[in-house]
Amino acid sequence: MKQDLIAILDLGSDKNAALARQIRAEGVYSEVYPGNISPDELNAKPNLKGVIFCTDGKSQYTGTVSVPTLMAAPDAFDGDNFTPDTLRSFLFTDCQCEKNWNMENFIADQVELLREQIGDGHVILALSGGVDSSVVAALLIRAIGKQLTCIHVNHGLLRKGEPEQVCQVFRDELDADLVYIDAEERFLSKLSGVSDPEQKRKIIGEEFIRVFDDEAAKLTDAKFLAQGTIYPDIVESGTHSGKSVKAHHNVGGLPEDVQFELVEPLKYLFKDEVRACGKALGLPDSMVYRQPFPGPGLGVRCVGAITKDRLEAVRESDAILREEFDKAGLCGKVWQYFTLIPDFKTVGVRDNNRCDEWPVVIRAVNTVDAMTATIEPLDWELLGRITDRIVHEVPGVNRVLYDITPKPTGTIEWE
Ligand code: XMP
Repeated sequence: MKQDLIAILDLGSDKNAALARQIRAEGVYSEVYPGNISPDELNAKPNLKGVIFCTDGKSQYTGTVSVPTLMAAPDAFDGDNFTPDTLRSFLFTDCQCEKNWNMENFIADQVELLREQIGDGHVILALSGGVDSSVVAALLIRAIGKQLTCIHVNHGLLRKGEPEQVCQVFRDELDADLVYIDAEERFLSKLSGVSDPEQKRKIIGEEFIRVFDDEAAKLTDAKFLAQGTIYPDIVESGTHSGKSVKAHHNVGGLPEDVQFELVEPLKYLFKDEVRACGKALGLPDSMVYRQPFPGPGLGVRCVGAITKDRLEAVRESDAILREEFDKAGLCGKVWQYFTLIPDFKTVGVRDNNRCDEWPVVIRAVNTVDAMTATIEPLDWELLGRITDRIVHEVPGVNRVLYDITPKPTGTIEWE
């Protein structure tokens, strides 16, 4: 192991994650463990340099954690108790930590751990092309190469160029064993005539699992399933009072007779660290810094019952919007931006003739947690350029609208 470790024992604080971040910001690796972790388990952690008992500040800790011998351990902290100075003094004077938490060391450690866990076993991974699954794939390829099989299910609701990019990066550049499933027709036929948004989501989610199951079942020697679980997923499930850090996992939908062991190398990384890891592994910026994209994809941006022509129009207009945002230097500055198409047509005029065509709506929002959002005040000239391109390049679209509604009252997506 290349990095020193500070263990945070969760005794009911809601500040564990923030404290881990603060410690990592000092260049020292830190992980949160359930408050009732056994001393043996704790002792077995390589390079453990110190333990912090993190309480909620109200309840008095009365558990039975005993600190490994010769370990630096401050008294119970309520998570707010560390000032930067006391934290530094604890880390570097009491615990004698070295500042050795960085991506190169993290990757080297994970490669070692993954090889240890997997041995000569086989791993499968659902590779969506999103940041987390892409970084997991790249890390596993580094560790075990062809012992990993990536399954990319193209449900036909991805953005323009995304399935191609997944194949190019992973198959061509990283030489991954990649199974590409073109399931567009299968999804579209299941979704045909379905207009209720939640029903659409349910169909897309269930069908995705079914397609993945079918492929996974073919790989009979696969013992492991890799997942792009990241630290915020773990925090949500809670580490207090011995709740398993894996309790939130739902491998539901996988064939019942197949028991996979989970492989989750990113489970202690925050999102920005996941991106840094992806960059260090050589993934392209367009993949590592890509904006959030919903699981049901363009399916929820083709408002109402999905039709192939409207889906294509959403995909094309979205590609134009992204291209123009890129040229205007807005990528990475605006949190989420996309187009959508409502399920009605409006009257317009094209080549001196009346035309009944769809409107395209532009959405561009900024947010911290997606619970509330403000709109990005876009430049009129930019909006004009985008509009001109969309109405001339996207078949069936004669009008472009810009949704200036913040959340609330408007949600970010239209359905
Ligand atoms: P709303 O529309 O609720 O969206 O304001 C908030 C954020 O969540 C994303 N979103 C989804 N993500 N599956 C996802 O993985 C979904 O069904 C889904 N619906 C919305 C949305 O893109 C925005 O970032």
